[in-house]
Amino acid sequence: MNIGNASKLRGIIDILLENESRINEAKPIRYWYPLSLATYGTDEIIEALDSMCSFRTSMAEKTLQFERQFSKWQDSADAVMVNSGSSADLLLCLLLTNPLAPMVNPGAEIIIPVVTWPTQIWAAMMAGLKVKFVDVDPDTLNVDLDDLESCITSETEALFLVHLMGNPCDMDRIGALAKQHKLHILEDCCEAMGATWDGKKVGNFGVGAAYSFFFSHHITCMEGGMVAAASLEGAEQLRLLRAHGWIRNVDPSRYDLSSHPDIDPRYAFVNWGLNVRPTEVQAGFGIRQLEKADAFGLRRRAIAERFNAHISKTTWLRTPVVSPKAVPSWLALPVMVHQDAPFTRSEITAYLESCGVETRPVVTGNVARHPVAKLFPEFRTRSFPGADKIHSHGFYIGLSPLQTDANVDRLLETFNTFLERY
Ligand SMILES: Cc1ncc(COP(=O)(O)O)c(C=O)c1O
Repeated sequence: MNIGNASKLRGIIDILLENESRINEAKPIRYWYPLSLATYGTDEIIEALDSMCSFRTSMAEKTLQFERQFSKWQDSADAVMVNSGSSADLLLCLLLTNPLAPMVNPGAEIIIPVVTWPTQIWAAMMAGLKVKFVDVDPDTLNVDLDDLESCITSETEALFLVHLMGNPCDMDRIGALAKQHKLHILEDCCEAMGATWDGKKVGNFGVGAAYSFFFSHHITCMEGGMVAAASLEGAEQLRLLRAHGWIRNVDPSRYDLSSHPDIDPRYAFVNWGLNVRPTEVQAGFGIRQLEKADAFGLRRRAIAERFNAHISKTTWLRTPVVSPKAVPSWLALPVMVHQDAPFTRSEITAYLESCGVETRPVVTGNVARHPVAKLFPEFRTRSFPGADKIHSHGFYIGLSPLQTDANVDRLLETFNTFLERY
């Protein structure tokens, strides 16, 4: 975009946003402490307008630029942008069963924690994998390591982890199990962008990792996602799977079309595939948001540390246990109500909601308890006592890097007022 125009545009957008003070005006009507606040502003809007005004809205240079910046930030071999975190999960699973370069046997078993965002599960099922659920530890909200160990059989070929709420899984023990049983590791990092285990960013422990750029996530593209790939070959397959199975977005010289003289290389299909491409508008948002990711992460961490320290002094509430080797990147502030507490999870969340603090359950809770479970036999295999505890006693409240200290003070006061009754 012409620089002169961009600066005029900046002035106009600043006026429209009233110097960004309008950004979060709409949301807090009901909640002064909502789940999330808009983290984008003039920079992202200018990028979006730039794409629209130059008629470059379909996937092109900005997507490539964002992918390069993301893989550098993540320290992965490559990164492939998609239209949502759910699509990122789906491509990761399709990578395992990819017809052009399969990594597992047909119908291979994949282990997935029973408390997660459900599209992680649908992704595996839709990719033709056989899902086996593993229980979740209510102390960490992550995979129960003993249950995991006992779930692995000779049928198991992959493990799809989730670092729930941003708390990293124990990658030492999981890595050792994966090595011992020759399991492929996939990571759902949609809630954990920037978290580390033993100094290494989560998402770098296996074949690849999924990220979500939904509105409330660590960075936002409004909607959007990314697959961080551990190898260039994997990224190439992901690009085929992302867009139609055609060779347009990969190096065409790798695909010998000499025996297909009737095929126009612009429409040459070498694999199966979907269309889960992002737009340039989303990628433009991503480029600007990624520049702010570290600052957002620090602020999220500071608020979470304050909140967790406060909750740790209470009798009836606790926050997740974090390993000394982990540095979480909290997506939200999860809380577990002690099972002997003189109040229920519903009572505290109803109170918080009535005070203007937005709450949610810890995503699915035990996903096997949802109506959808009736549709699939995978859900009806056994009980999951750890997940049940999270289902009945867990909830979370929001965590925005834009939240003020005054609001955090008020939040802690609100918890105190409730707890003083008991
Ligand atoms: C763990 C996890 N996986 C996947 C997703 C799906 O991401 P999206 O909403 O971008 O499709 C989410 C969304 O919140 C999530 O929390």
